[in-house]
This record gives sequence, structure tokens and C-alpha cells, in this order.
Amino acid sequence: MSVKLTLLPSGEAMQVPLGTLLKDALPQGSVELICSGLGTCGKCRVQIISGLVPPTAHEQALLSGQQLRMGIRLACSYQLWQDTEVLLPPRETTASAQWLDCLPEQTSPNLLLAVDLGSTNLKLALLSQGEWEIVAQAQVSNRQKMFGADVLSRQHFANEHPQGRRLMQLLVVESLNHGLRLLRQEAPTPFSITRVAIAGNSVMLALLLGLQFTAGVDVAKLVREYPLAQAPATDLGLDVDESAQLCLLPPLANYVGSDMLACILTSDFGSGTEPALIVDIGTNVELALGTQEVIFVCSTAAGPAFEGGEISCGMSATLGAVHTVTWAADHYQVQTIDNAPAIGVCGSGLFSAIAAARDNNQLAANGRLASTELRLTAHVALTQHDIRQFQLAKAAVRTGIDILLAQAEISVDAITAVYLAGDFGKHVAVPDLVACGLLPEELVGSVAKIERGCIEGIIRYCRQNTEAVAALLARIEHVELAAQLAFQERFVANMLIGPAVPYREVE
Ligand code: FES
Repeated sequence: MSVKLTLLPSGEAMQVPLGTLLKDALPQGSVELICSGLGTCGKCRVQIISGLVPPTAHEQALLSGQQLRMGIRLACSYQLWQDTEVLLPPRETTASAQWLDCLPEQTSPNLLLAVDLGSTNLKLALLSQGEWEIVAQAQVSNRQKMFGADVLSRQHFANEHPQGRRLMQLLVVESLNHGLRLLRQEAPTPFSITRVAIAGNSVMLALLLGLQFTAGVDVAKLVREYPLAQAPATDLGLDVDESAQLCLLPPLANYVGSDMLACILTSDFGSGTEPALIVDIGTNVELALGTQEVIFVCSTAAGPAFEGGEISCGMSATLGAVHTVTWAADHYQVQTIDNAPAIGVCGSGLFSAIAAARDNNQLAANGRLASTELRLTAHVALTQHDIRQFQLAKAAVRTGIDILLAQAEISVDAITAVYLAGDFGKHVAVPDLVACGLLPEELVGSVAKIERGCIEGIIRYCRQNTEAVAALLARIEHVELAAQLAFQERFVANMLIGPAVPYREVE
């Protein structure tokens, strides 16, 4: 027996077996499955227009009474027991491509492709041969994210499903080819791609190569030892020249990828500006602290809170996301991306809201809200649970910074520069990071944002001779945070919100 499912606003209709989970009936990519359908993230929301059935336990736990009455449900737990009309969230429209005006004059020029292989977005840059000038750039979503926002979920999927590895590889290659198609559509002249250089997280690189690995395996080593010399980029399915060679920047450790190596190159560690700190925030946070002799690196699991995951009104930094919050006499004022109506809070908005609430005495340093929620607009509010998720993520990052400082045996005021890498730094206000205690207040005047630091670092890597790269790699030392005795104690202290979090002297 089957039921009719109608997708709105397109009106597309289909017959599906009675009892089918809605997520299984929807076209791929229709909703975000951040927790892979475990019923914990609440991000796969849809609105049932007709055919509504009573909520499941997951829906009752994750959705408010008003949302349930409006027909909001979770696609990963909603079963189709009768003919149903469902309104889907708008499709992501963040892909973009742009040509700059310095394209080489010859027809069909040979170009190099540099890729920042992020778990959320992929950034592509086309470079002229010889000059290494960026002539075009594009950004597309990583389609793997439909199987989880974090790399561990994707690793799990790749290992647990018979076609998992192949599917993960196909999705990321198809995402890259989508970016290349956009670049070709916009190109003033046809071009060839004769070399591809990619930097990214170790697991992301392993998934791109289709490598088999299980928990506990040294993934970074697997990637570093992959015989790239025999692997033209077309072997992966990339839409580039037949002969285009593939170069992967070497990942530094299992959770410290080659995107961090690229940022280290961009930040000129080794030019006498040390000590300097690089902070690359995502679900997996990577940190580097460079001294004259050693570059200490580590990773820390912040979870998805800074990217909008596990926050009730959280969202990525797209249209309508609140990015700045200020207190105006008797209410909060918000600024949103592209000044669209506020529909949620992105990572920078989360920092801004919490800094404003602390300033306004509506939030205690221990994270306790003065009232049941922190209402920002008629439709957007933070709950006590959201604040707790933020505290856990913030404590993970700050503890990583504290431990690197202790490892390097330097005090925080010796740091000359802090580089905020990646998309997170784009909208966030540095004073909010300090007000919430993510960065020590001594560093407020030393922060620079290197949003495209990874692409710049790939270019530098390709231009450097192998001896210089080997010398840099020899200076890098990986610090395992979990093995540090002080980790737990520091983590608990760093749960407090505010600049008063003490930086304790080097042990
Ligand atoms: S995917 Fe449905 S709750 Fe996370």
C-alpha cells in the first residue's frame, strides 16, 4: 500500500510505501541531516501542510509546542501514514564563481587549481602558470555534509555502509566539478587545468582519495604515504586535463590537516614575527602556536555550536542569520546577513548575543540565564541549553590555547599576532571573542583575519622548494590535548563566560 507525497513549493508528487520515513522519500539535499538522522540536531525541520500525524518523541523533545502546532516536524523521524503535503526549506544558493581581470592573454591558457577542501564549503582558485596570480575563484557547498556536519559522522558512514567510501568520494568530487562548471560558465575564454593542489583535514583528504581506514588508524600518515606520483587528478573523476598532476599538502596529524600547514605558510611563521597564534574554528578546531624554534599544533573538538548546530535557533552564516546583537535600552537590536529578516543565529551572532547578555547582566559568568530564555527577536531566542553548548565549545578552544602556551613555556602577553583563519572570522567581532573568554584579553589588539589563508598557503607551498617545506615540517610538533594532565582542570575553569577567566601561569 502506498501514499501520495507532494513536495512544496515545487508541487512535485510521488507515491511512496506506507510508513516510509520522510527523509528517505525526499530528494537528496532537500534538508540538512546534521546528526545523520539520529534525532538530536533538530536541523531537518520541514512543515507538514496536510496529512499531519502526532509528533514522535524526538520531535517533542526538539520542537516547541508552537512549532508542533504549526506542523513543524523532523524529516528524519516523520513517517508517512497518509497522503501528505510538505513544505521544504529553501535550497542552498551559496555557490558562486568570479573571474578577476588578470587572465593571461593567450587563448586556452593552462591554469593551476588550488582547493581549500573544507567540510562545509569548498573554495577553488584558478592560478596563472608562472605568475601564480589568482585569476578566478569559486565557492561551493561540500555535498558530503548531507551525511553529517562533522568529519567523524562521515568517517562513520564511509566505514559502516557497503558503498559508503565510494559515495563520500563521489559527493566531494561532484562538488568540486560543480565549482569547475561554474568557473567554465563564467570564463571569458576556454582554459585547461594542468595541476591540482589540495589542502584539507586528514579525514577529508582520505575520503577524497577513497582510502579505507577505521577508528584508531593514523589517517594523516595514510594520506601522506599515498602514491600520488601515479595518480593523475582525473583518476579521482575531477574534470581537469587528462595529464593534470594531483598534489596534496601533507596533513600534520589525524585532526590537524594540511589546511593548517597552509595557514602556517600564509602567516610567515619563521620570519621572526613569532610567537604567533593561528586559530581555525570549525566543528574541529585547529590551533598553531609558532615560536622561533618550534611550531606547536593541536586540535580540539568544539562540536557544531559555532556553526549553528545543536543551537535551537542556530544556522550557518547565510541569508537572515543574526551576526551582531546590541542592547538598546529595553530590548536587543540585531543585524543580519544581507539585512534579511532574522531567522536564526550564526556563530558570530552567538558570540555577540552572549557578550551583550553578559554586559547587560542577563547572563551570569557561570552561564545561568536571568530568565528562561534570551529573546533576541520575536522569532529568535537562545535557551539555557544553547548557552551550555556554547560554553562547552568555547571551553574546548580556550583550553587548547592555554595548553599550547604552557607547552611553549611563554606567557600570553608575549604573543605578537593572532590569525583567525577560515569563514568563522569573517563576521565575528574580536571584542566579542574576548568578552566571552575565547581569546585572552591581552590579545584583543593583535588579531588579524586570514579568511583565504588556506588558498594563499597552497600557493606558497607550490612555490617553495622541497627543502624549505621539509625544514618547516621538521619544526612542527603535535600536542595531544587529551594526554595533558591539566586539560580537565583548565576545561572546567574555561566554562566560565567572560574576560575574567584567569590565564594561569605556565606550569
Ligand atoms: S537529522 Fe533529523 S534531528 Fe538531526
